[in-house]
Parts: sequence; structure tokens; C-alpha cells
Amino acid sequence: MTTPLRLGIAGLGTVGIGVVKIVQRHANTLARRAGRPIEIVAVSASSRGKKRGADISTYAWEDDPVALARRDDVDVVVELIGGENGPAKALVEAAIAHGKDVVTANKALLAHHGQSLALAAEEAGRVLRFEAAVAGGIPVIKALTEGLAGNRIERVMGVMNGTCNYILTQMEATGQGYNALFEECARLGYLEADPNLDVGGIDAGHKLSLLAAIAFGTQVDFDAVELQGITDISLDDIRLARDMGFSIKLLGVAQLTGRGLEQRMTPCLVPASHPLGQLDGGTNMVVIEGDSVGQIVLRGPGAGEGPTASAVMSDVMDIARGLRLPTFGEAAANLLEAPAAVVSSAAPWYLRMTLLDKPGALARIATVLGESGISIDRMRQYSHDGAHAPVLIVTHRAASDDIRHALERFAATGVLVGAPVAMRIEEV
Ligand code: HSE
Repeated sequence: MTTPLRLGIAGLGTVGIGVVKIVQRHANTLARRAGRPIEIVAVSASSRGKKRGADISTYAWEDDPVALARRDDVDVVVELIGGENGPAKALVEAAIAHGKDVVTANKALLAHHGQSLALAAEEAGRVLRFEAAVAGGIPVIKALTEGLAGNRIERVMGVMNGTCNYILTQMEATGQGYNALFEECARLGYLEADPNLDVGGIDAGHKLSLLAAIAFGTQVDFDAVELQGITDISLDDIRLARDMGFSIKLLGVAQLTGRGLEQRMTPCLVPASHPLGQLDGGTNMVVIEGDSVGQIVLRGPGAGEGPTASAVMSDVMDIARGLRLPTFGEAAANLLEAPAAVVSSAAPWYLRMTLLDKPGALARIATVLGESGISIDRMRQYSHDGAHAPVLIVTHRAASDDIRHALERFAATGVLVGAPVAMRIEEV
């Protein structure tokens, strides 16, 4: 058989051990498919003595992950350390500089440094691939880069943080509030080391910014992603949305319009009957719309040992087969610097607020909406207690700026109790 492809793996946590297991368990199948054996020659992790779920005793050990990049017997560095800076970045930079191809699962690293790293890899004639960084086991990078390469991509949407989707769907299923479910996720080990990466929408925002770069041929621009997490979602909103036929999801949406690149990772209402609305638990879903293909829905596990290692191996197998694709689907030097859209595409909005229960209160709110150019589609007043009247309004399509303006003006009406809730209804 021909020359083996030799891997150096940095990071032997859940995903790293998952990769070791696949390489060991499926050695013959991988070799047949790639036309050459895939071998692990060296590994690196923070603790050598730790008990792990796979035998790594036959691999060379490096205390310093960057040393993997300098080894003559390593062809591909697999970076599974994580983190946007620190050892992960140092390793990837060193690997490229030492002529290695790189496979990484690191969404934070690429969201912040993807353009410069892709350029460096390109200039060095190396590949830098990241299937495992977005939506775990769903081969969404491959779908966008290869399967849909003949399309003009019109919109990419996705539920890409399993922890948030678990919390939101469990709130609805069990009637428990956000705080109780956050605690449950902590107990179950579902949260990132910094939980705000999950519940603040940052982790999912990283992933969206990577998909947007491939979809629209633009430079990764995570800083331009409009981010809002799920910490303020109440059971009231979940129930009211459901009553009207919607589910609340932490939904990422990216589209390139005449106004620029829109990237949002925010709680949205989606029709409960759409696959996005039906997505339960820790599962991920990515919806891609192309001008020729129409709408594609990809669903699958977004995290975990097997699914994420499966995605890492997809990149390893491409390299073994000689498929050398650019990081973001086209030359990094050609990626556009798209301006961020200041105003999002118009959409219907869900507005919930509590009003003083007195004559003319609703009329004042309706007047503000009318004067802001916002038309009401549906309205409901529910469970008022004589003093306060909770009101739910669904608008016709409105620009996000007009909604923002109206919300600011609500405060001056003197009839509002507390802050209103406003969520976009994404038309899917
Ligand atoms: N914290 C992430 C999630 C893990 O919950 O989806 C995968 O990136």
C-alpha cells in the first residue's frame, strides 16, 4: 500500500479520544477508502498520566503541542485544544509555518482569526479545514463548499447550539424556568467552561460567521454578528408563541443583500410546523437556501465524542485522498470584505408588554406603532388583573429599525409596566 498519512493530534479530550477510536477501529476501512493508511504518530495533551478511554501508548508523546508541528513524521496536525488564542492558535500557526496541513474543530479560533489563518495556509500551500467546528456531526461545511457549489446561496439559517435548544425545548416540555434548566445543564455537563459562550449565543455566533464566509464568499466577520442569548426568554413567551403556532429558537440567520451582510444569532419565532420549529433537545439543524436547489435541511447531533470525531475524520479523509479545498471554499485572498448590514431585512415581529389597565393605554401603544410605520397583524390581551394588562401584538413585516424606534417611544407613553419583549418572526 502507498505512503500512510501521518497524524499528530493535540488535545485528547472527548473529541481527541473519539478520533483515536475511529482511526483504531476503522483502520482497514479508512485505508481502503483513502487508498492509503491513516496513522496516528504523535499526540499531545495537558496531562500525560490521565486515564483515557483509548490506548495511546504506541504514539509518541509531546508535552508541548507546538512540538507536533516541528516533527518530520507528522503530515497533518489535528488541533482539538480549543480556545480562540493561546496554545491552539500558536499550534495552528506553527503547523502552517512548518508545512503541515491542519484540521481543527475550533470555532472560536476561526471566527476570530479565520481570515489570517486561511491566508497563511494558502500562501504556504497547505490546507486548513474545519468541518467539526460547525454543527458537530452534520457535514455542513462539505454541503456548502462542495454539494451546493453550483448555487448562489441566498440564506443560511441554523440552530447550532445544542445546549440552548435543550433548554428552550425543555422549558416548553416540562414547564421549568430558564434558571432550573441552566442548573440541570451544568449538572449534565452540557455547558462550555464559560457558560456564556452557550447561553449568550456566542458559540453559535462563531459557527454562523464561518458558514456565512463560505456561503457568500466574504471574510469571516464575527464581530458584526448581532448576538442575543436566551437568558431572558420566559415561560410566558414560550407558551404564547406556541399558542400562535410558533416555537422560540436561538436561530442564526445570514444573508447578503443590497444593504450588506446580515448576520444574526438571536431568539426568534419560527413556525412550529417547520423542521426548525420541531427540533427538540440537543440536536442541531442547518437550513440552506440556494437559487437552484431551493431549501436544504440538514439535521443531526451537534456535539459529543462520536459526531464531532466523525466530522474531524471527514477532513482527514479529504486530505488523505488528495482533495485540497480552500478553507472557505475559495481563495482566501479573494474573499470580499462585505459591509455589515445596519438594518435587517423586514420581518413580522412578536411584541409582548404589560400595560396599565386604564382607558386609552392600548390606543397609545397602537398610535406609536402606527406613527412608526408598523402595521398590526394580530393582537391579544390576556389574563389581566384589573391593574395590569398583558398584551401581545404580532406585526406585519416591519424593519428592525422601525421596531427599535417604536420600543424607544413606548417608554414615553406612560402606560407601560416594565420592559417590552420583542422577537423577530423568521419567515422560513
Ligand atoms: N456547547 C456546544 C453546544 C457544543 O451546546 O452545541 C458544540 O459546539
